[in-house]
Amino acid sequence: AHAPTAAGPLAGCHVVITAGPTREAIDPVRYLSNHSSGKMGFALAEAARDQGARVTLISGPVTLATPAGIHRVNVISAMEMLEAVNATLADCDIFIGCAAVADYRLEEVAEHKLKKVPGSTALTLNLIENPDIIAAVTHREQPPFTVGFAAETRELARHAHDKLVRKRLDLIVANDVATPGLGFGADDNAAVLYHLAASGSEAAVTSHTLSPRAKRALAQALLDYMLPLY
Ligand code: CTP
Ligand code: CA
Repeated sequence: AHAPTAAGPLAGCHVVITAGPTREAIDPVRYLSNHSSGKMGFALAEAARDQGARVTLISGPVTLATPAGIHRVNVISAMEMLEAVNATLADCDIFIGCAAVADYRLEEVAEHKLKKVPGSTALTLNLIENPDIIAAVTHREQPPFTVGFAAETRELARHAHDKLVRKRLDLIVANDVATPGLGFGADDNAAVLYHLAASGSEAAVTSHTLSPRAKRALAQALLDYMLPLY
């Protein structure tokens, strides 16, 4: 249950967090997805709760238990995640998009299990782009303070800067997923945070490095850094 009189720097604040992967059905028994474990998003939910926030955690399919005192909404696909996000936005103060949303879904989901075609050695699936959930949040009339994530295997700074501006984020958390033992599925993570400098100029980006540590500790450090910007 929610503590009726929470204390802390985020008291009175509604934080909405997306976490985990999405699953895009191919047929009744198969799907497209990715390796996201949901650990980073769940750690952020706990850290925000401990700073006094009311937390809504919109999660794709993961194997993690719901942290105490957090309102969890389970979704499967990107379209369902978008719907769940839209339903919480009216009173959202801070939105953190931690989910690894599948970029594409099947143009048509097969009603019955696909069968192998005898003699054929290849199969083509037609995919269409999913909506960009975080961009839909920031393009609203009165957007919440919005934090995005970027998992990259190369050119971290360039891609993060590009997403910060293109998605109109207030802050982006960039993870180098090429480092073994960090990021996807791991218990530890490191990050570089990017946001526009006070001048607001798109050329003046401030960066701040968070060294490797447990995801729960990283989540807390991230919120501590975010607070004065919010
Ligand atoms: N995101 C989202 N909806 C999508 C795709 C991404 O809300 N359909 C959010 C993620 O939750 C994350 C941020 O956007 O906070 C960046 O995700 P990422 O996959 O790195 O961005 P993309 O624009 O999909 O770019 P890429 O081509 O690198 O996958
Ligand atoms: Ca993507």
